[in-house]
Amino acid sequence: MVSRVIPVDPFDLVIVGATGDLAMRKILPALYRRFRAGQIPPEARVIGAARTEMDTAGWRAEVASALGEGPERDAFLARLDYVVLDAEGETGWDALAATCRPDVLRAFYFSVDPHLFAPLAKRVERHGLAAAGTRVVVEKPFGHDLASARALNAALAEHFHEDQVYRIDHYLGKETVQNLMAVRFGNTLFEPLWNAQYVDHIQITVAETVGVAGRAEYYDRAGAMRDMVQNHIMQLLCLIAMEPPARFEAHAVRDEKLKVIRALDPVEPGNIVRGQYRGDGAVPGYREDVGQPQSRTESFVALKANVSNWRWAGTPFYLRTGKRLRARSSEIAIVFKDAPHSIFGTEAGRHSNVLAIQLQPNEGMTLDVTIKEPGPGGMRLLDVPLDMTFAETLGPDAEEIPDAYERLIMDVIRGNQTLFMRDDEVEAAWAWTDPVIAGWQERGKAPAPYDIGSSGPVDSLMLMHRDGRRWREIDP
Ligand code: BG6
Repeated sequence: MVSRVIPVDPFDLVIVGATGDLAMRKILPALYRRFRAGQIPPEARVIGAARTEMDTAGWRAEVASALGEGPERDAFLARLDYVVLDAEGETGWDALAATCRPDVLRAFYFSVDPHLFAPLAKRVERHGLAAAGTRVVVEKPFGHDLASARALNAALAEHFHEDQVYRIDHYLGKETVQNLMAVRFGNTLFEPLWNAQYVDHIQITVAETVGVAGRAEYYDRAGAMRDMVQNHIMQLLCLIAMEPPARFEAHAVRDEKLKVIRALDPVEPGNIVRGQYRGDGAVPGYREDVGQPQSRTESFVALKANVSNWRWAGTPFYLRTGKRLRARSSEIAIVFKDAPHSIFGTEAGRHSNVLAIQLQPNEGMTLDVTIKEPGPGGMRLLDVPLDMTFAETLGPDAEEIPDAYERLIMDVIRGNQTLFMRDDEVEAAWAWTDPVIAGWQERGKAPAPYDIGSSGPVDSLMLMHRDGRRWREIDP
């Protein structure tokens, strides 16, 4: 397998919030890896901007220590400049304007709190930095609810056309998430079965072992529903449920995803379980992590969603995500219906095919098929997984799976919005999420406690049991 690196055009990328955690942990390492891979041309430049008083040499030194030693690091660092910039004041804007080259593709990455998006967008335009091809990248949280998301969209729309705005959901940049589309639309095998007639139900699990320490303030205001379900899990659901777009192209794909979100039924209160991890003496619980002894924010949520359209009516989507669970594992499982009639009699048991797509770690897919248990003893059936773990199937190249940010930032430069969320999509996702949150706030019920290292609260198991189904194990 030969990886094909197609260099992008030279660019000026301005990272606002250049000293922040995301810039140091994700954005700059991603750029460095693409530079090393030969995808970023030597004429490209990355301009760091932040309030911190520092010069270019100082920022380069910070970036160097964030990147660690590596080949071509000095050549990459030589592409970096730094400007002291005040998002809400006038400091630094003339210097930034003087640093940006007039005839080079320009992109701004607003790696800052969303309340700064509007003042930044205004100043970018006011200082003549918003040429027609200029792009703006924004991160989640994109709003806290529908009203705030609309306000952010409107503020950006005052200065930029929607074609210039790149809303990142980093799950869409994950190689395995893109693979969902390849599996569905690159094979004839699955698509004829991909509907309520053949699929019993779908499970989407995003389980984490990390807690919320370090981001307490943000997380306690958000909770799992806003932090994970409204965006990442919603995107996974869309890719599984959407109709085949006519082309793998930005508007075509996003149109189809939007239709899925709009087809989601409101979630009934009895179909949601919220949880909060409790301490076990050795490891602090959620409330200690956020320093709020009374907090009612959920660190776990499980729910049953219904997509009310011709393809999916009657096939539930069970979604769950949580912190401090027993393993880090993100998996989508398509559980097919049992064979309509067992010619082997009841003693052969019930067997169903399951297509499980493991997003992380151990990226890959398994397809459970039913076979005869080898040896004597009659016709005994057994489910065995056909295993397509990418690391094994693809050989050593599989270890080179790029980080989501590498793909997404290169897409910004290429001007490809396919893997970014459109304004109407984000708003539709909030329109579905808001009543769920409002409902439990009204009911005022505290989230159910669950043990660190468990699979979440017992009630979440019941959500499936009462439908005669069960969650798959959360295995690493
Ligand atoms: C972020 C959430 O968007 O995604 C975090 O804010 C979460 O709470 C993270 O931990 C998970 O991302 P990944 O790529 O580690 O699955």
